Amino acid sequence: MCAAVLLALQAVWAGVGHAMQHYPSAWGHYDVCKSQVYTEDGLSWDYMACQPEATDMTKYVKVAVDPPNITCGDPPETYCALENPYMCNNECDASTTELAHPPSLMFDFEGRNPTTFWQSTSWKKYPKPLQANITLSWNKTIELTDDIVLTFESGRPEQMVLEKSLDYGRTWQPYQFYATDCLDAFTMEPKTVHELTQQTMLNIICTEDYSRGYVWKYDKTVRFEIKDRFALFAGPRLHNMASLYGQLDTTKNLRDFFTITDLRIKLLRPATGTTMVDENNLSRYFYAISDIKVQGRCKCNLHANSCIFNEHKLTCECEHNTTGPDCGRCKKNYQGRAWNGGSYLPIPKGTANICCECNGHSNRCSYIELLNTVICVSCKHNTRGHHCQLCKLGYYRNASAQLHDENVCVECNCNPFGSDGDHCNSTGFCKCKAGATGTKCQECLPGYLWSSGCKSRVCDNMMLRCQNGGVCHGNLRCQCPAGFSGLLCEKPRCAGEPGGCDEGSISGHANPIGHCCLGPLLSLALLVCALLPRARLDAEL
Ligand SMILES: *[C@@H]1O[C@H](CO)[C@@H](O)[C@H](O)[C@H]1NC(C)=O
Ligand SMILES: *[C@@H]1O[C@H](CO)[C@@H](O)[C@H](O)[C@H]1NC(C)=O
Ligand SMILES: *[C@@H]1O[C@H](CO)[C@@H](O)[C@H](O)[C@H]1NC(C)=O
Ligand SMILES: *[C@@H]1O[C@H](CO)[C@@H](O)[C@H](O)[C@H]1NC(C)=O
Ligand SMILES: *[C@@H]1O[C@H](CO)[C@@H](O)[C@H](O)[C@H]1NC(C)=O
Ligand SMILES: *[C@@H]1O[C@H](CO)[C@@H](O)[C@H](O)[C@H]1NC(C)=O
Ligand SMILES: *[C@@H]1O[C@H](CO)[C@@H](O)[C@H](O)[C@H]1NC(C)=O
Repeated sequence: MCAAVLLALQAVWAGVGHAMQHYPSAWGHYDVCKSQVYTEDGLSWDYMACQPEATDMTKYVKVAVDPPNITCGDPPETYCALENPYMCNNECDASTTELAHPPSLMFDFEGRNPTTFWQSTSWKKYPKPLQANITLSWNKTIELTDDIVLTFESGRPEQMVLEKSLDYGRTWQPYQFYATDCLDAFTMEPKTVHELTQQTMLNIICTEDYSRGYVWKYDKTVRFEIKDRFALFAGPRLHNMASLYGQLDTTKNLRDFFTITDLRIKLLRPATGTTMVDENNLSRYFYAISDIKVQGRCKCNLHANSCIFNEHKLTCECEHNTTGPDCGRCKKNYQGRAWNGGSYLPIPKGTANICCECNGHSNRCSYIELLNTVICVSCKHNTRGHHCQLCKLGYYRNASAQLHDENVCVECNCNPFGSDGDHCNSTGFCKCKAGATGTKCQECLPGYLWSSGCKSRVCDNMMLRCQNGGVCHGNLRCQCPAGFSGLLCEKPRCAGEPGGCDEGSISGHANPIGHCCLGPLLSLALLVCALLPRARLDAEL
């Protein structure tokens, strides 16, 4: 993506001619997946966690009502008002548009007068239960961002269950139970969302808040409280979203709680208004829903900031080299690193966790026009290379770590004195200077002594004695008396000049002051020196 998009954008931005930076306008928006930055390495991309904007998800929903003949109008029926059995002006006839109440009216524009609504048949078969399932399917994982709100036009049901599926309708879990009497209907203690805590947030409760006896024109709504649950982490007015995001990042159960592919409203018992059902006028009892609100966003695992509806289907427009309906895997050839969802943290840009070939050591890549290639920049964890696939100089590859492991490169840690520069081979062995040994060149070979590195052993009190009265210092140096020099003080100094040499004196016999010269006949001279014990020289004097 990087290269292709970049090329396109370069063309567009050619006229701008200077650095452009895109940043989220405020923290927590996560509305930008990448931005272009200029670094010392040149033009490069900075990748961020991103998600599509929250929106009205009912625009993309498929609805099914079961059983199919539960929708009113075939045959036509006349209904009376629940609160007034003499007010019977509600007609349903599926064969005329004006009098039909199909499921689609739950999702149409509200604000019309009179309101439009889906309506069930009446409870003609009382006492057989009047039940209906309304199933909303997206065929896409959705993250809820606001309360689910159902508006009932003829009293709220006395019993209902809101269920969710996370696997396209294969399995279902209850989201919340609703009843006028939770104990009686579901043998559950009634609770309200306000009794939940961070610890009990995932508990499924039965609430009596939305089923109380019919109060005319009031309390038409039944809610599933998303925001109150968010507030358990983000505080009263959701002022601390960072805390919520942090929890969502780290707690899969919490994330999954707000994630759905389908919703099902199981209507189990309609509003009756009174304690007794009026068996003489069952036309008063039915379900009528004028509106269903579901706010949310496509779940794209923080790898896309837009989600398109194409051919009746929602799909994330995946970035960061991810793919799949939810950006749930790495694109082919971008699997150098295991797929990971993006992360909301750190605020405000989060972590993109891109599937690039930087092996997880960089979130940035840069297009190098000259090479027509994209390379990773700012490789972390002591890596280097176009894909952060190599270890920096002074580090070696940890054989027991995966390439994307943070510990992949281990410091050579070569001893600065014993080694020949801070680099090592692939098993961590440093290159040693003469005399040094050990993995890090921290030890000396026999015959060498440590002194800011390995120095060869010069003198001792056994085999390598300093001669001519010299004193051995730390086995490294003979301190010679005046008149002698050489590693072991074995050389009498030349007469005229220190270190100077009279070529002519190498003539076969020693002169009185002990001339000893090194020159072309080096070996001979050394021999002479070694074989002339001081005592003999003295005697000749
Ligand atoms: C993704 O893949 C494209 C090629 O398909 C590549 O040019 C780009 O650098 C990759 N990285 C990101 C983060 O998009
Ligand atoms: C709906 O259809 C089923 C059979 O499919 C039938 O048993 C039931 O009585 C019908 N209900 C209504 C209200 O027509
Ligand atoms: C509603 O769905 C449940 C669960 O699948 C099923 O058992 C029940 O029969 C359905 N009810 C109706 C009225 O279709
Ligand atoms: C759901 O989406 C998948 C692709 O993501 C598609 O193959 C399938 O046909 C869709 N199912 C329905 C019922 O639309
Ligand atoms: C009962 O329902 C019928 C229609 O089914 C209606 O005509 C009648 O007025 C209603 N009211 C009473 C009190 O019977
Ligand atoms: C090598 O990597 C493994 C796995 O991450 C890690 O446990 C180990 O500490 C690493 N070795 C070194 C020397 O860092
Ligand atoms: C690294 O150097 C050590 C010491 O010279 C040697 O024993 C080892 O085989 C080398 N490892 C490799 C992979 O070359």
